[in-house]
Amino acid sequence: MSSDNTNTIESVLQEERIFPPSVDLASKARINSLDTYQRMFNEANRDLETFWGEAARKELQWFEPFSKVLDWTTPPFARWFEGGKTNISSNCLDRHLDGPRADKTALIWEGEPGDVRRFTYRELHQEVCRAANALKAIGIGKGDLVALYMPMVPEAAIAMLACARIGAPHSVVFGGFSAEALRDRLIDGEAKAVITADGGFRKDKAIPLKSAVDQALGESACPSVTTVLVVKRTNESVSMEAGRDYWWHELVANQNTDCVAEPMDSEDRLFVLYTSGSTGKPKGVVHTTAGYNLWTHLTFQWIFDIREDDVYWCTADVGWITGHSYIVYGPLSNGATTVMYEGAPRPSNPGAFWELIQKHGITIFYTAPTAIRAFMKSGRSVPDNYDMTSLRLLGTVGEPINPEAWMWYREVIGGGRCPIVDTWWQTETGGVMISPLPGATPTKPGSATLPLPGVDADVVDSEGNSVSVDEGGYLVVRKPWPGMMRTVHGNPKRFRESYWEFLRPSDGSFIYFAGDGARKDVDGYFWIMGRVDDVINVSGHRLGTMEVESALVSHPAVSEAAVVGRPDDLKGEAIVAFVTLENKRVASESLLKDLRSHVGQEIGPIARPDEIRFSEALPKTRSGKIMRRILRALASGEEVSGDTSTLEDRSVLDRLRA
Ligand code: WTA
Repeated sequence: MSSDNTNTIESVLQEERIFPPSVDLASKARINSLDTYQRMFNEANRDLETFWGEAARKELQWFEPFSKVLDWTTPPFARWFEGGKTNISSNCLDRHLDGPRADKTALIWEGEPGDVRRFTYRELHQEVCRAANALKAIGIGKGDLVALYMPMVPEAAIAMLACARIGAPHSVVFGGFSAEALRDRLIDGEAKAVITADGGFRKDKAIPLKSAVDQALGESACPSVTTVLVVKRTNESVSMEAGRDYWWHELVANQNTDCVAEPMDSEDRLFVLYTSGSTGKPKGVVHTTAGYNLWTHLTFQWIFDIREDDVYWCTADVGWITGHSYIVYGPLSNGATTVMYEGAPRPSNPGAFWELIQKHGITIFYTAPTAIRAFMKSGRSVPDNYDMTSLRLLGTVGEPINPEAWMWYREVIGGGRCPIVDTWWQTETGGVMISPLPGATPTKPGSATLPLPGVDADVVDSEGNSVSVDEGGYLVVRKPWPGMMRTVHGNPKRFRESYWEFLRPSDGSFIYFAGDGARKDVDGYFWIMGRVDDVINVSGHRLGTMEVESALVSHPAVSEAAVVGRPDDLKGEAIVAFVTLENKRVASESLLKDLRSHVGQEIGPIARPDEIRFSEALPKTRSGKIMRRILRALASGEEVSGDTSTLEDRSVLDRLRA
């Protein structure tokens, strides 16, 4: 993290509006008052191990009980629920089969062209068992990493649960990433198999996936991958390599519908999920079995106060942590009905989301602020065409939500009656950390409100001391929690350095910091102010500026590149790249297009710069460090303020301004 970044911490917002939880909702809620919340919070704070030990015994099924709740003797490497054996697939499926839940709908899937599939818990269990047996048939066993590069089809969730069932960690790679990005992740994780599809439908288009897998595996780039399983979705012709590639429908169909869940140690790896940081390539965030299961299970139960007849829909993609935790694991572990949608709202159907809410009687809706802002822009006439009275609770995740969007969401989508849970968390935290509880917490538009019980969150200065009320600082967590990431795949040193060594309080304790700035108001409410490191948040997607820079520099015309975020009304942040060219190369419209598509190929369409500015030179310090602070100001059309005396060549600034 570069020190010239802290200027993004500025607290300007003064929000006065407060919305108490509705009486009706509170009367039925598990956590039904601020007092109950406070009591739980204090209990957890007083004795973390008793609190989580009791929760784990009560909320999860165990093949063998654990003997120790937490081992924190070698921080930052935590071990939770040691000695215990469990399996998340069996907690998500098998335990619901004994009673009436067996025939309850577990998953409703809506395809982009409007095709619908439903699975009861019994049916989903059978599908997962079949898929698990198919994985075994192709030689996948406990500990083998399986990569998923999938569209939003039921098979994506089924494959995740099948991997978990046999103890094969999964590594889901978002289907919008390029072949190059997929290849990096396959190599880093030493994946043994890839599960993909011929393609998927998104915004009226069929997006090919299998061909990208072929490209990623080409020239023996990933020797660890021995098998590719291909789901048929778009019916486009794909090439199948004999001995390596198998059709899912051929291999899975004839498998036995029973597969005993592998008893997993609590700390056995459940999955790796890559996410961007300030430096280097994306990191493989490692989550393990029991702690992650408990965290997603309980947070889902608390935050959505889930009831037996809820129909819950989270609009994320399973390629991101939100899809992992709150489409698949959290909802299914609770025996809820979870909805999965293949598409996204598109110009030809701007009401797609509202139509789905009406059609399936959705009661809980969880989406990203960027989507809400896009809907706001097209006006309330679109949602007003639909009956959304089934809704009782709304949620947001992924980026700070501005109070205007929050109010619009509440009034127009929630009809003024649904509480909003603004949930702050990260890939690294496994599940939600700071969020209102709908039956207990009064909400303020734009605030994620209070930390969940067991989450010792704070806002601190660079020495790790708490800052005062309304003062900006670093958002940290002081104590370990069950859902925390365990390490960076293959790089424990990077785990320690990236998250635990940036702030080292004088008492030597370890506190977790993963890049956000925040302030706490007089009521102790957290206001998240966004990343303070070199990570940008584009439409709720995390990208490291370094990654985009490396992609640009790998183009033969580019000599140097610096990438910054600029505030954007719709996306939250837009990507602005400053580029200097190699000798004899000249800036042109066609080069600009070429560079954008090059970044698309290297990373994926989400990383394509919104704006590229060609420049003769970049502003640097005398030690050669690019001064991003200056570029950020230039990109957003602001005055360059602060000290510029460390600039090596002041004329660069004048030329950039011109
Ligand atoms: C941001 C997504 C403000 C934050 C679950 C964090 C938020 C990053 C919120 C993690 C929120 C997430 N309010 N900012 N409610 N939720 N963020 O790993 O900057 O894709 O560090 O996880 O998103 O992004 P990630």
